[in-house]
Amino acid sequence: MVNKITVVGAGNVGATTAQRLAEKELARRVILVDIQEGIPQGKGLDQWESAPIAGFDTRISGTNTYEETAGSEIVIVTAGIARKPGMSRDDLLNTNAGIVKQVSESIRDSSPEAIIIMVSNPLDVMSYVAKQVTGFPRERVLGMAGVLDTARYRSFIAEALDVSVRDIQAMVLGGHGDTMVPLISYTSVSGIPVTQLMTADKLQAIVDRTRNGGAEIVKYLKTGSAYYAPSAAAVQMCEAIVNDQKRILPCAAWLEGEYGMKGLFLGVPCKLGRGGLERIFEVELTQSEREALEKSAEAVREPMAAVKL
Ligand code: NAI
Ligand code: 2OP
Repeated sequence: MVNKITVVGAGNVGATTAQRLAEKELARRVILVDIQEGIPQGKGLDQWESAPIAGFDTRISGTNTYEETAGSEIVIVTAGIARKPGMSRDDLLNTNAGIVKQVSESIRDSSPEAIIIMVSNPLDVMSYVAKQVTGFPRERVLGMAGVLDTARYRSFIAEALDVSVRDIQAMVLGGHGDTMVPLISYTSVSGIPVTQLMTADKLQAIVDRTRNGGAEIVKYLKTGSAYYAPSAAAVQMCEAIVNDQKRILPCAAWLEGEYGMKGLFLGVPCKLGRGGLERIFEVELTQSEREALEKSAEAVREPMAAVKL
């Protein structure tokens, strides 16, 4: 358990994340921050009132400023807006970059030793904004996407084979977009290569569905995007850090030469422990996987270059 975890953005992902953090008692205090007056306070109080029933002692509270968040060990950033009619991709990019910039300045000033887990989209670029603005080392700025994308991939495989999700080992790398790279060569079911259990066509359909996993949920919800699986993914990363679990999870990390690339955030296998990012694993890739990873990196570099800081 750590003393304090802050969740910035008390919307769908942020509020669900706060509740999950408290139910796992990962911190003594969880602070929800949002610019909307009353929303973080009301949600935080409602969640705290669930403590006697759910059985946790983590104190959750909400605020519109950063005073109470001071000295947080971990900050999870979920603040941002969704795309609205008439807005271009670049409008969204720069609007969220502006929000994440302001949030990052506040984190830098109030919790200079914090580890940041970025959730806001476009994920890889927002992780870059946070790193640039805070000046934190790469060990302390991570993006959540790969855990979510891999969970989707694993759930689809488990469903298709009618086996437990617990027995599906897999890893989705690359940027958080439709160029993400599910690694078929590292997908197994209790150690059995998935290619022995499923036809190539069926597997390809699952890969395609994974790449469109976020859009599939948006199509159903119409007014927003996914938050149950995303919050579970952010909390799994947080738990690995808080409990120094040394878990190997696919996270967006700042590359400094790994996979032959540097100067961008990209989803790669990361060891997470109390120090945050403790190691990036460079795994062998097939030629097509390597090409797909490079293509995915290009899809991250383009909006990164367009972002105004
Ligand atoms: P939401 O609209 O429910 O919540 C966003 C919240 O951010 C709102 O309550 C808003 O008031 C708040 N906010 C805006 N500006 C702020 C600021 N300057 N400071 C503090 N709070 C501020 O959105 P939702 O569904 O919670 O998603 C949040 C973000 O996470 C979006 O950018 C979304 O695209 C992204 N996302 C990323 C995922 C990933 O895999 N990385 C998965 C799911 C969502
Ligand atoms: C998702 O993948 C919206 O990035 C979000 O669901």
